[in-house]
Formats: sequence, structure tokens, C-alpha cells
Amino acid sequence: MADDLDALRDTVRAGRSALWANPAYLPAEDVQARQDLDRALADWRMLAPLLARVFPDLEATHGHIGSDLIPVPEGAFGPLPGHVLIKGDHALPVAGSIKARGGIFEVFMCAVTQSRAAGLLGPDDPVTKLAETRDFFAQRTIAVGSTGNLGLSVGIAARALGYRCIVHMSHDAKAWKFERLRKLGVEVVLHTADYTAAVAAAREATDADPDGYFVDDESSELLFRGYSAAAAELAIQLDAMGIAVTPDKPLCLYLPCGIGGAPGGIAYGARAIFGAAAHSFFVEPQQSASALCQMAFDAPSVHDLGLSNRTEADGMAVATLSPLVHARMRQRLAGVCTVGDADMLRWVACGAAQGLRFEPSATAGFAGPLHLVTSGAGAAFRARHLQGVAPEDITHIVWATGGRFVPDTAHAAFLASAAALPEAFDLPQKISQ
Ligand SMILES: Cc1ncc(COP(=O)(O)O)c(C=O)c1O
Repeated sequence: MADDLDALRDTVRAGRSALWANPAYLPAEDVQARQDLDRALADWRMLAPLLARVFPDLEATHGHIGSDLIPVPEGAFGPLPGHVLIKGDHALPVAGSIKARGGIFEVFMCAVTQSRAAGLLGPDDPVTKLAETRDFFAQRTIAVGSTGNLGLSVGIAARALGYRCIVHMSHDAKAWKFERLRKLGVEVVLHTADYTAAVAAAREATDADPDGYFVDDESSELLFRGYSAAAAELAIQLDAMGIAVTPDKPLCLYLPCGIGGAPGGIAYGARAIFGAAAHSFFVEPQQSASALCQMAFDAPSVHDLGLSNRTEADGMAVATLSPLVHARMRQRLAGVCTVGDADMLRWVACGAAQGLRFEPSATAGFAGPLHLVTSGAGAAFRARHLQGVAPEDITHIVWATGGRFVPDTAHAAFLASAAALPEAFDLPQKISQ
């Protein structure tokens, strides 16, 4: 065991891809998660009429923010083993990334709470009243620190209700993301430092503002709750496709991870619904393996293992794991695996060939099935938790997380970078254990 961890540490330090199977993982029914998920679903239902009123894109879905579940044509994404489906959050309406599920939820919940506290929204008032109270929100500020996509979703949601909004962006943020925000009237503060510093600056500035509300990506219950509801949507879609999920026909989810809120929330929701039949893995860039460093090595920062936190996958350029997510995932997370930038870019190009617009962060999940099915650590995981399950009976869900709003020029640049790479994928060949 200690030898395995030493070997893993060497692999991680060397910037190679790895799978860490969580030794504390306990697949099980989860009553607490189920209760929390029910609350999340009730909150989303309460907000739906307001969302439909404020965002024309959501009229047709009556305020539901959802994405497609997309079967992967054989060979379309390289050498993927088994039965793979893409959960298409890269194309989510309104915010164009998985962050729509968290950021919009938290801003709208904040609006409801603040207006109830101020007596503006009575117990019998329809929530749609908040579409007409811009003057109230205009006196209040919502702030957030972000690598880009959370800022985009919070900014879009806050401005839609009339809030003043300040987004602190890390140096990783792409120019088109903050330009889009500025056009909406969001005040964007650009930092020359990383995500952690941007969040700290946003927190400090908001603490000094009595009318400020801080969306705390590092420890927000509301973000977590908002994301968790995605699992219920997935369950409905699997059911509609006739895909059974049982311990004999398990679901493996591969969730791109930055600070951990989005993948943690979804893993939590998946456990609420599928219990021991779903196994969630976080997937991270090799150089930004914050969940792996924290959960496997107790290392609070990727820098502790000599990693650079530099990656093309800007949404995941985060050096630390959220303490809230860490606590919730201790026994609930199956494992963490990592992937290199080159493969993520190759999958961006594969997506384009299928008419799917991904940003690099969106594609990390494709590494998951490769790790699980082809690596030694994956074999050990399957022997322990998927005993007697034939590989073809596993349904792999690759959670795609962002890309809809990537401008043509930026997308073309990803494709050019991918075209300049050797054609063969690094994975699974470069899986080192
Ligand atoms: C496209 C994309 N994927 C994945 C993530 C990871 O989400 P989290 O930081 O909540 O772990 C992000 C975060 O911004 C993102 O933008």
C-alpha cells in the first residue's frame, strides 16, 4: 500500500497520468445525500418560473436548465473502451458551461432570500415578482472569484436580475470570457495571480461591503446543491434510453474537477439516486491535480508536489480542493485520475468532428474510461468494487463541461493546436500504473 502510494507520488510529480482509487471509498445507499438532493430539486422547481421569465432561452423548458445525454459513436473519441455516453453540459443554455447549474442557482437563491428578508417577496407572492424588482437588486452587489466560467454564470445571472456584479478573474481566464461579462455591465477585476488569489481578493473586497454577497466557490453549500440536481436529470435520461443502473450494470461517472464544487455536487447527487450502483471519479489536468494531491497525499496544494498548476484547461487550473467537497467526498468518491493537455486538445478536435463545441476543460472526462479499463489501478478498483461485472456492462458517463460560448477564433486556435500534435492519443499508452 505504502509502496503503491510512493509510486503514485512519483508518477504525479513527474507530470504523468495516473488513477488513484480511493481506499476509503464505500459504495452505499445514502440517505443524507437523498434528503439533500430532494431539497435541491425543490429549490430548482421553486426558481423555475422566474428563470423562464428572465431567460428567453429557458421559456421552452419552463425554466429547467438541462443538457442532452449523447451516445458516443464507436471510435469517434479515440480508443475508448465500452459503452460511453457524453453528458452535454458543454452546451448548457444561459451560461454555456456546467457552472450554469451552480452559479445561476446560487444567485437566484440569494435573490429570493434577500427579497424575503426585506419583505419584498411575501410567502404567497409568485417568485416571478423578482423579475420586476431591479431597483432593489441594483443597490446590492454580488461578487465572485473565478477562472472564468463561474464568473460568467454568476455575472449573467446577477445582471439578469439587476444586481451590481464584480467578478475577480485569475490570470488563467480567457479574454473572451471577461469581454463577454463587461458587455453585460459586470465589473471585471483581472488578477495577475492564480484562482486562489482571485477568490481571496473577491472575498476581502466583499467583506468590506455591507451590501455585498460573496459566492464562495471554495466552500459554498448553495453551489454544491445546485450542481447536485444534475444527477436527477441524468437518471431520467438513462431511464428514457432504457439503460438500467444496478450494481451488476453500474454507472461510472467521470467529472472534470477544479475546486471540486461541480464534480462534488454531481457525485453527491448521483449517489443519492443510484446508491452503490454509481461510481464517481474526478478527472484533473496532470499539473492541476488538486483533488488527487489532497485526498491521496494530504497535500493542500498541487505546488506541494511540485506541480505547476499550468494547463490549457483553464476551468480546472486550481491548486487546491474545496474543504467542503473534501469532507463530503471522503467515502463517496471512487477515485481521481489525471490527463494531459494534449489529449484534452485532441478530444476538442474529436468533438468538433461530431458537431460538439468543447473547450479543453470539457473533455477531461474522456480519460476516465481509459484509466478504469486499461490501467493496473483500474483493474484493482474493478476487482474490489465491480467484482463479477463484465466490462461491457459498465455504462461510462463522460461529463462534458463547457464550450458553447467559445468564439470561433478561440475554437479554431484549439483545433490548430490539436492538429499540430502527433495523431495518436497519449492515453492509454502513457498510463503508468
Ligand atoms: C469547463 C469547466 N469544467 C470543469 C470545471 C470544474 O468545476 P469545479 O471548479 O467546480 O471543480 C470548471 C470550473 O470552472 C469549468 O469551467
